[in-house]
Amino acid sequence: MAKKAQATWGGRFSEGTAELMLRFSESVSFDRRLAPFDIRGSKAHSAMLARVGLITDAECKAIHDGLDVILARIEAGKFKWEAKFEDVHMNIEQALTRLVPAAAKLHTARSRNDQVATDMRLYFKAACADLIQRIDGVQRAILALADKYRDVLVPGYTHLQRAQPVFLAHHLFAYLEMLQRDAERFSAVADHANWCPLGSGAIAGTTLPIDREFTARALGFVDARGRARVTRNSMDAVSDRDTFIEFVSACALTGVHFSRMAEDLILWASQEFKFVELPDAFCTGSSLMPQKKNPDSMELLRGKSARLQGNLHTLLVLPKGLPLTYNRDLQEDKPPVFDSHDQTALSLEVLAGTFAGTEIIREKCAAAVADPALLATDLADYLVRAGVAFRDAHHAVGAVVKLAERNSVPLDRLALADVEQIHPAFKPDWVDSFDLAKAMARRKGTGMPGPAQVARQFRHWEKLLG
Ligand code: ARG
Repeated sequence: MAKKAQATWGGRFSEGTAELMLRFSESVSFDRRLAPFDIRGSKAHSAMLARVGLITDAECKAIHDGLDVILARIEAGKFKWEAKFEDVHMNIEQALTRLVPAAAKLHTARSRNDQVATDMRLYFKAACADLIQRIDGVQRAILALADKYRDVLVPGYTHLQRAQPVFLAHHLFAYLEMLQRDAERFSAVADHANWCPLGSGAIAGTTLPIDREFTARALGFVDARGRARVTRNSMDAVSDRDTFIEFVSACALTGVHFSRMAEDLILWASQEFKFVELPDAFCTGSSLMPQKKNPDSMELLRGKSARLQGNLHTLLVLPKGLPLTYNRDLQEDKPPVFDSHDQTALSLEVLAGTFAGTEIIREKCAAAVADPALLATDLADYLVRAGVAFRDAHHAVGAVVKLAERNSVPLDRLALADVEQIHPAFKPDWVDSFDLAKAMARRKGTGMPGPAQVARQFRHWEKLLG
């Protein structure tokens, strides 16, 4: 059991760490992906140490050169990560120590607590930018699909029952709105991440004369006017995990959105709807039933969405019972974050690819939307225009629907004499209510699915997405 004391913190220990404990406590297997951020942080920190005179310029240069060598090795896959050094921070520091003597001064006025908090904030800013870009990719694919099928009408659904006709583009633009809010959420998360914790030390800062603003500026933790943004409370800075929660929450909500889109596409691809043909490239077959083409990618999106919610739950529970400040439990904060990032990124790519390759089956959409019952509300509006109170109009149209059902005829095939009996406000032009083009044109208001509004939305999204 007895091992050599740990190189970075082993001073007060007479016995080494148990091998089991090393395996149990290491995080380098997953936090090594923070290496580029860790190295950026160390460069900025050492530049600051040189600036305030805690190390010499030569020492700073040696540290920077050494870190460049290490980064190059990591990027080339040649760096030897060792579990015995626990995490990414100590692996890099140990490697640097072997390269340059000045490495022994790098950790001056710094703790792994403010170091990991800094790494993660740099990571979140990059991850948010990455996901925003991927969301943009999905939006572009959706816009292109809407554009290709500009004139297609489909039934809109409530309760999964045909409700009212809408342009397919209007339905697709609902997705664009959802995704736009997702992107805005990620930019808000990036903004919350944009505060530099370095200088908070383990919990209570340092007695050494550091320049926190310098480090913050060097790392790009600045406001719109270029002023340094440094955290205001050292204890909060090392124990706060709000940004983690916000990030995985934004991922989970994006997941809810793409899961709903996936569900629409699954339904639309079914034989019962057949509004769409999904791209073969994102479907799979059945090992038993030769006729099957399964929308697996879309089903997996629903599944991934569940996983993203699980990650959010993990991160909500993790800090809730912890006394301030840092507790080692917090090391478990990273796997859910990385998983949410990776799965959201992958899902968005799959979604973009699926939309890009989706074909709309015009005839099926046209047949479904030709159902005159979809315009029953328009018929009520017809009576309202003739001065009938809406509740009475609704009731009268209900009776018309019932009659059509009883006679087994489509709604627009009833005789004027029959409908007149139901309500005297029905005149010979009552059937005009079923003219789909006219019905759509009446939906003029902002946010409605009429052709003028849809054209306006096309202009909006074309401008926004470039
Ligand atoms: N690997 C650690 C983590 O991610 C770094 C911070 C360690 N701090 C400590 N006091 N042991 O949480």
